[in-house]
Amino acid sequence: MDPQPLTNTHAPASCWAIVVAAGSGARFAGDVPKQYLPLGNQRVLDWSLLAMRRWVGNRLILVVSADRLQDPEPLAAIVVCGGSTRSASVRAGINALPPDADYVLVHDGARPLVSDVVIGNIISALMSGADCVVPGVPVSDTMKRVHNGVVMETLNRAELVAVQTPQGFAAPILRRVHATDEEATDDAALVERAGGHTVVVTGDPLTRKVTTAEDLDWLATRVGQHSANGAA
Ligand code: C5P
Repeated sequence: MDPQPLTNTHAPASCWAIVVAAGSGARFAGDVPKQYLPLGNQRVLDWSLLAMRRWVGNRLILVVSADRLQDPEPLAAIVVCGGSTRSASVRAGINALPPDADYVLVHDGARPLVSDVVIGNIISALMSGADCVVPGVPVSDTMKRVHNGVVMETLNRAELVAVQTPQGFAAPILRRVHATDEEATDDAALVERAGGHTVVVTGDPLTRKVTTAEDLDWLATRVGQHSANGAA
C-alpha cells in the first residue's frame, strides 16, 4: 500500500536528486540523444529536471556525456561527466553528493513526465525508513520468460510490475551498493542483489521513458494533460 502522501512538494533538506542523461540513445534513430529532443516548449531533459526541482530545489546533480560537460544547465546545481553505462553514470553522480545527503532520488533524464504524487510517496516511504523505493505499474500483457525463442514459463501477471524512476534510496545504501563496479539496468536491482529491502509504490503510466520516436509522439500528446494535472 502507498505511504501517507506528503502534502507539499518539499523534500527534507538532506534529500538530493541525481538525474542521469549521459546516454547516447543508441536505440533512438537520429544524432541528438533522446533526452535533448524537444517535448512541448522545452527539452525532454528539462521536464525531468523541473519535476525533481519541485521537490529538491537546487540540490540536484545532472550527469551528462563528456561532450556536453561545458553546456550551460541552469536547472542543475552540479553537472558531472557520466560513464559508458547507466550504472557508471549513477556512480559519477553519487561521487558528487555532499557527505550530509541522507536521501537520494535517482531519475532517468529520458523520463520527462513525473507526477508529484509518485515523488511524494517515494520520499514519504524513505522518511519512514525504507532502504529503497521504486514506482511500479501493473503489466497488462501476459508475460513469458523466453530462451532462444522458446517459452520457458508463463509468469504470474498479478505479481509483476514494470518499474520506473525516480527511485529513492537511503544515501548510505546507495553508496554501498555502488561501491563496486556492478552493473544493472536500475539501481534497485543492486539493492536487491545485496539483500536490501525495496518498497514498491504505485507508479504512473505517464512516466514513460523515451526509447523510440513513438514514445516521444505518445508523450507529446500527453504534455497538456500532465500540466493540467498540476504536475509540471
Ligand atoms: O539506455 P536507457 O534508456 O536505459 O537509459 C536510461 C537513462 O540513463 C537515460 O536518461 C540515459 O541518458 C541515462 N544513461 C546515462 N549513461 C549511460 C547510459 C544511459 O546517463 N551510459
